[in-house]
Amino acid sequence: MEKRFYITTPIYYVNDKPHIGHAYTTLACDTISRYKRMKGYDVKFLTGTDEHGQKIQTAAESKGESPQKFVDRIHVAFRDLCATLGASNDDFIRTTEQRHIRVVQEIFSRLMSNDDIYKGKYSGYYCVPCETYVPENAMGENHTCPDCGRPLIIMEEESYFFRASKYVPQLIEHYEKHLRGVMPKIRYNEIMSFLKSGVRDQSVSRTSIKWGIPVPGDEKHVIYVWFDALVNYISALGGLDTDEFAKWWPNVRHMVGKDIIRFHCVTWPLVLLALGVNLPQEIFAHGWWTVDGEKMSKTRGNVVDPSEMVKEYGLDPFRYFLMREVPFGNDGDFSERALVSRINSDLANDLGNLLNRTLQMIRSYRGGIVPKSDEPSELSQMSAEILERVDRSMNDYAFDEALKAIWEFIGRANKFIDENMPWKLAKDESQSAKLDFVLMNLYEALRLSAMLIAPVMPETSRRIWTQLGISEDPVKAQYDSFKWGNCAGNVIGKSEVLFPRIDIKEWEKSKEEKKLQETSSQETTSATEAQSAPAIEHEEEITIDAFKAVEMRVAQITKCEEIPRSKKLYKLEVDLGYEKRTVCSGIKAFFTPEELTGKRVILVTNLKPAKLCGIESNGMILAASVKKDGVSEQLTLVVPESDIPLGSRVS
Ligand code: ME8
Ligand code: MG
Repeated sequence: MEKRFYITTPIYYVNDKPHIGHAYTTLACDTISRYKRMKGYDVKFLTGTDEHGQKIQTAAESKGESPQKFVDRIHVAFRDLCATLGASNDDFIRTTEQRHIRVVQEIFSRLMSNDDIYKGKYSGYYCVPCETYVPENAMGENHTCPDCGRPLIIMEEESYFFRASKYVPQLIEHYEKHLRGVMPKIRYNEIMSFLKSGVRDQSVSRTSIKWGIPVPGDEKHVIYVWFDALVNYISALGGLDTDEFAKWWPNVRHMVGKDIIRFHCVTWPLVLLALGVNLPQEIFAHGWWTVDGEKMSKTRGNVVDPSEMVKEYGLDPFRYFLMREVPFGNDGDFSERALVSRINSDLANDLGNLLNRTLQMIRSYRGGIVPKSDEPSELSQMSAEILERVDRSMNDYAFDEALKAIWEFIGRANKFIDENMPWKLAKDESQSAKLDFVLMNLYEALRLSAMLIAPVMPETSRRIWTQLGISEDPVKAQYDSFKWGNCAGNVIGKSEVLFPRIDIKEWEKSKEEKKLQETSSQETTSATEAQSAPAIEHEEEITIDAFKAVEMRVAQITKCEEIPRSKKLYKLEVDLGYEKRTVCSGIKAFFTPEELTGKRVILVTNLKPAKLCGIESNGMILAASVKKDGVSEQLTLVVPESDIPLGSRVS
């Protein structure tokens, strides 16, 4: 069977401008699409816009426009976003298109004729902005919406219902057999327990609004916007009885934010079961971005516009940051500072320098021609392992892990330069073969790295291959046909800086000026003081004895557990050699348990025990951090620089 991969983003509501949340999902789908193409898959990548429903109708009214005119205008921003992001989507569907409307009505009719949709009465608490009924046990205080906090209204209407309950046992059985049906694990568990708690038949039509697709044969009703929207994944294939459907549907995967998993992992599969077609291979729910530690919202004025980020920092750095910064599936915090720091360290420093140094050496020692050498090296051996790790990670949608693996390889290559000191080899005629060996391996490491980053940073990948003097397009390269070491004789191209380093001082200054301008346009007074650079806070002078009173020792983290109620803390077990202790440490935002387990750290051992989240903590782990408003934005552990017995005293 041919290798096929059909991946979809949610279709985005066009009630407002796109932000980084939308960009994130689209980029994740773009990355996996590009990767699968490079693995020889026939890929279909679908995205689009959700244009019906109360939310849109209200937004249009507030602008004094007809809904159709409104969506025609606003949806363009989402289409443009795809271009801005370099998304390689094969289609863009709008729910106001005829091709979609027709299929929604066909599917609705089919379910009606099978008695899986029936007419009934519905009454309940309803949230207008979220377009959803809220069960009484899920309401917030004073009858408010648990999601948006706004007051609910009581709504009663005649409604069509989808017989969801009938298919629940079948869906549970399916998920029991298909552990990748909902990913990651935490969402899988959530969905399973939700399904097991029972699902009621679901209202799938409205009489209260006009802006929607009419129920076939009963035009008083419009089809509920979520039913309408979910069908886009099929209408983009032309409907159920088409060759396109037969071609792609068996390999469909949905990517969504964790906010809409019930619609995707419960409602939609139940509809699919009723239609008698296969369920999605995988539904992956990624986490939620906050901005500078806060929820993104219009009222807070902290909504990040992806096209502004791309304009300011470049497309590939933005793509890299989003895919690298957060373990895919977890929540994350967006800050420009963190983006700048990734650009400087990972891109300008690690990758940029490797390219620069290598090309420069090939140019000055070998006239710009890649030398031949057949001896295996650490790098050539590592390359096979990296390819495998990248593949494993990508298959699990662990984009961050894949990038980490690639950067380990890049780091190894940089170290390879330092260890072999080509500049010394070049001075010694008898070391010529060794120099060939070193240069050739560095060249290959770059050629491979550039290919590996192509799904995330296609432009950078191209720029590197061009500089390496390779005329093929790395974006079209096939991972499985990569062979180490057949580039001897290649003539390298012109060098250029991949990523200019951002001067942090300058950057801070320009950010402050910008903020100042913004604030001063709102209120002219008192801005200067508030905006001046934060001073470094120093502690009072102490004596050496005071310092000696702090007992610090080398320890090893042997276990790391989440504390369910805590966002910040991990419960760690540390080994001091002479004893084991439990320590609570507020570093959860920066590490996964796997990253911490086995790490050697410095522990303050004579701190008075403290109870944190009900757990007694016996000591404190040393870390350096960059703080903003008292909150760590960046953090690194202080670790012993070489092996030394556990328990060794630090002074
Ligand atoms: O829900 N962090 O559309 P929507 C991460 N039309 N991702 C985010 C995000 C954030 N802060 N904010 C939004 C809808 N997203 C429906 C979908 S599908 C048949 C119908 C992303 O415009 C994330 O993918 O509210 C989320 O699921 C989606 O945008 C919601 O977009
Ligand atoms: Mg939403």
